[in-house]
Amino acid sequence: MSPPVTPAIPRERVVSGIRATGRMHLGNYLGAVRTFAEFSQRDVDCYFFVADLHTLTTLKDPALLRAQLPEIVLDYMAAGIDPARATVFAQSSVPETSELAWLLSSVTYVGELERIPNFKEREKHRVEGEPINVGLLNYPLLMAADILGPRAHWVPVGEDQYPHIELVRDIARRFNRKFAPGGAGFFPEPQPASKEPVRVPGLDGSGKMGKSQGNTLAMSDTDDERWAKLAPAVTDPARRTRTDPGTPERCGVYAIHQLVSTPDVVGEVAEGCRTAGISCIDCKMQLHHGIGALLQPIQLRRRELAGRTDLVRDVLADGAKHARKIVTETRDVVQDAVGIVRY
Ligand code: TRP
Repeated sequence: MSPPVTPAIPRERVVSGIRATGRMHLGNYLGAVRTFAEFSQRDVDCYFFVADLHTLTTLKDPALLRAQLPEIVLDYMAAGIDPARATVFAQSSVPETSELAWLLSSVTYVGELERIPNFKEREKHRVEGEPINVGLLNYPLLMAADILGPRAHWVPVGEDQYPHIELVRDIARRFNRKFAPGGAGFFPEPQPASKEPVRVPGLDGSGKMGKSQGNTLAMSDTDDERWAKLAPAVTDPARRTRTDPGTPERCGVYAIHQLVSTPDVVGEVAEGCRTAGISCIDCKMQLHHGIGALLQPIQLRRRELAGRTDLVRDVLADGAKHARKIVTETRDVVQDAVGIVRY
């Protein structure tokens, strides 16, 4: 039998997704989706999905998942992802990805899944005696299939996802070495898309803005709603009174400034904080305006898209078709390499 031919990758590929735990929030946007939108304007092939299968690992409410997914697709579009330029799809509509996850599981070790910090955190915080589902342990393995399915080069994700990407690189390397599917170097070793990891801290002073932590700003917040959350946000604990100087680097509000405000404003608030020239409320007010300016066009587009279930259906159907074609190519090569015959 002649060796399988490696299908060439015509352009660099970018893959990423977010889970459907709720509507997109500012942490999703700044940490990931803003970069998705930037990539979709460039000369690369983009695959952006809603990770509904990953959502199942923490799912409480099936009706919510069902309702949420189309909303996130509209959130993607409002954030600037053009489905005419990027493949937008539901993770579950590409069953070949789940198959690939199984094929990759033989070169993935239990120990390395258990060592992933996100999993360890989860284990640490579980209620005494609560069982941990296998999906949580296998979470990064499915991510590996999400990324290696389209043989992606770049994966725009926030800093919290870096350990996952590192593991995916290991799996890719190991699989290439062991099976040389379609010739050595079949899977590119995917890289996070930004040199500087993006961390979006929560408003409660915790490390990460996240749905489960309840410390987020919603993309849909009105000015008043946003200010109600921003005004009491935790800042540098050393600034107990107005006259105490602060350290911007220790403040979550400043970290968000760095992601949304102009360099001038960032410089001004940093200086004002260090010299106690401005109050935390002054600084938050500046951030409030910065976020407002950022969100205004997105909210406008989102209102125009509201209720467009027809559009969502078309986008997801087209996206599924294209993504399946690409991932099936990979699945076939991998099957050939490991000795699975398609009868
Ligand atoms: N784990 C990612 C998150 O929680 C979502 C995700 C699933 C993902 N599969 C992926 C991101 C593949 C990038 C590539 O945000």
